[in-house]
Amino acid sequence: MPDVFDPRLYARGIPHDAFRELRDRHPVARQDEYAVLGWPAGPGFWAVTRHGDVVRVLKDARRYSSHLGATQIRDPDPADLPFIRRMMLNQDPPGHGRLRRLVSRAFTPARTGRFEAVARTRARDLLTAASAAARAGDGTVDAVRAVTDEYALLNLTDLLGVPKSDRGLLLTWTERVIAYQDPDEPPVLGPDGTPANPRSPAMLGEMFDYARNLAAYKRDRPGDDVLTSLAHADLSDGELEMFFFLLTVAGNDTVRSAAPGGLLALATHQDEQRRLRDGRIAVDTAVEELLRVHPPVLHFRRTAAEDHVLHGRHVRRGDKVVVFHASANHDERVFPDPHRLDLARSPNPHVSFGDGPHVCLGAHFARLQLRVLHEEALSALPPYEPAGPPRRLVSHFINGLKSLPLRLG
Ligand code: HEM
Repeated sequence: MPDVFDPRLYARGIPHDAFRELRDRHPVARQDEYAVLGWPAGPGFWAVTRHGDVVRVLKDARRYSSHLGATQIRDPDPADLPFIRRMMLNQDPPGHGRLRRLVSRAFTPARTGRFEAVARTRARDLLTAASAAARAGDGTVDAVRAVTDEYALLNLTDLLGVPKSDRGLLLTWTERVIAYQDPDEPPVLGPDGTPANPRSPAMLGEMFDYARNLAAYKRDRPGDDVLTSLAHADLSDGELEMFFFLLTVAGNDTVRSAAPGGLLALATHQDEQRRLRDGRIAVDTAVEELLRVHPPVLHFRRTAAEDHVLHGRHVRRGDKVVVFHASANHDERVFPDPHRLDLARSPNPHVSFGDGPHVCLGAHFARLQLRVLHEEALSALPPYEPAGPPRRLVSHFINGLKSLPLRLG
């Protein structure tokens, strides 16, 4: 049975051969959850890899709960579970619907659209500086360091209303949570000296204090930002802190992955890059295909709320059911020639933003940022190609790039 659990696999890229074998021969596959990178073993999980099944699981929140065991493969410490369940991401209808309605108001396309002009100037400045640095040097640039990390972080801090001076804090907090499987990141140790789960309340206190203080500030001095809306919504302090945490993690590392992921796909497909430059393909259509081939989120977990049979496998109440977006987006049953980058692909029902009640709340803002980045790259950068292999994050959750060397011109 191919293994798709090992976080180290993904440092070499999405394990497409393993996913293909699972889709064809074991569409609901038992996976071992062995001890890895200092993390303890778990009870194992079912891997769901076909597009149709991924969508079915995500839409059926009654049978596949986000609340019972939260949404990460690794089980939270039982003592932390009640805390983690307070986050909207880890709730089921109808409680989830109440929170979702409250924050949706802070996320209207009109609000996010107002950030387009700032994002555009930011993209142009970062890309122009990167291009100048390449010209002055050996013709190459690391697009992650020079452009995309900063672009994603600063766009998010604008949306949230985080002051400029505090932006570094936000980066530290999200890296702690997302990069914890990566050996390049120093582990955060708990009181007993072993790696602490960065999602536990003990590790998040500093961020929560910050969120509460910033909300109090926004009540006095409202701005046109999401934190101002949340500070004025009918949310308890605890709910507000959890939202801040959810948004910093969900809104940063995803775009930090999608932005260089799209540039990498274009760098390695010169014909497609040319079609985009020639204006033969609309940038927003291209962005969907770039998100399909480079899904920023590799999987999400649910927990079975009842015994049932799925593709002949007896799934028991309490079992972990993990959907792999990376596999669904390359399912031959839905996408003709799935490993071909076709920037004009239509229809393109990729699941990079999920589906069902938890479908990404920030999708509009994410698409806006990616469209603007690629539009500006077309004018600010000459044709570009890889200048060496990218370095990938060691994680089975986020499809991250730590560096992307490009040769410009
Ligand atoms: C390309 C970028 C992004 C991708 C690929 C992405 C992907 C996803 C996915 C797959 C989910 C579903 C989680 C589940 O099924 O349990 C999700 C949920 C969510 N995303 Fe995104 N996301 C992106 C950007 C953003 C941004 C920019 C924000 C906010 C600024 C954001 C905020 C959220 C929130 C709040 C949820 C939880 C929704 C809920 O539980 O109802 N995301 N995202």
